[in-house]
Amino acid sequence: MRGARLGRATGEPGAGRGAPAGAVDVTAPGYVFAERGQHAAERFRCLAAAYDPVTLARLARTGVRKGWHCLEVGAGGGSVAHWLAHRSGSVLATDLDPRHVPPAPGLVVRRHDVVLDPLCEGEFDLVHARFVLAHLPEREAVLRKLVRSLRPGGWLQVDEFDKSYAPVLVAPDAEAARCYREFTAAEERVRAAAGSAGEWGREVAASMVAAGLVDVDPVPVTQPWRADSPAVRLLVHHTHHLRDELVAAGMTDQDLHRVREVLADPSFRASSCVFYSVHGRRP
Ligand SMILES: C[S@@+](CC[C@H](N)C(=O)[O-])C[C@H]1O[C@@H](n2cnc3c(N)ncnc32)[C@H](O)[C@@H]1O
Repeated sequence: MRGARLGRATGEPGAGRGAPAGAVDVTAPGYVFAERGQHAAERFRCLAAAYDPVTLARLARTGVRKGWHCLEVGAGGGSVAHWLAHRSGSVLATDLDPRHVPPAPGLVVRRHDVVLDPLCEGEFDLVHARFVLAHLPEREAVLRKLVRSLRPGGWLQVDEFDKSYAPVLVAPDAEAARCYREFTAAEERVRAAAGSAGEWGREVAASMVAAGLVDVDPVPVTQPWRADSPAVRLLVHHTHHLRDELVAAGMTDQDLHRVREVLADPSFRASSCVFYSVHGRRP
């Protein structure tokens, strides 16, 4: 698919799925958090459970409806693409590794690298990307590319974190609080080394203005985190999924074991980092 030009999704329901399992090279410059096999499904389930309520409520505010042609970039597990397909009847879902997006009526799924592959211009009524651009060193150029893919009047929604604020509020003891903070700091070092910008969420609105969008509307959201929160399940998942990187960043296996204990403690409470859901419209 590299080099392919993506436009209107005209295939049959579920047509155009990416390369068959095993044939997809999920590595790409700027994204070392390639979704590794068996870990990806649980990771996408946690992301959907934690953030779809905010993302979908914001998408609904654009007025998305039947007849709109939508693009979901970095579709991951496909939950947002499915919701959009139900609402609009015409969605193109793209990802470096599209295997985790199940087929649905009105949905076409393609393998596509949003950094390297071309994208049709003036094509979409609504473009959405969540937790994709911040991972990419080329994020500002990709944002401008997504803006160009909009029709006049079309909406762009970008959902990203600002990880500079995520305090622990209640922990079993001071050592547990320190352990949590060290884990989140190590995770950020790992992501930063891979080219991620952990605070980019707060910059998205200004980037949209600079890219020529109007009606730019950033909404910051925080959530309470506790042991049974899907986002906390995701952190536990990272202690396994990113174990090698976290150890290289200074954590020990004993530290990671302790982090899992802290995150499972019924008394544990933290604030999520800030989730920015940002709208802009092409004039
Ligand atoms: C953190 S996951 C987020 C998945 C989904 N958007 C969500 O919020 O549940 C990042 C997704 O972006 C995809 N991705 C990373 N780099 C990409 C690129 N250059 N082009 C297209 N997709 C990319 C990954 O394969 C992965 O599915």
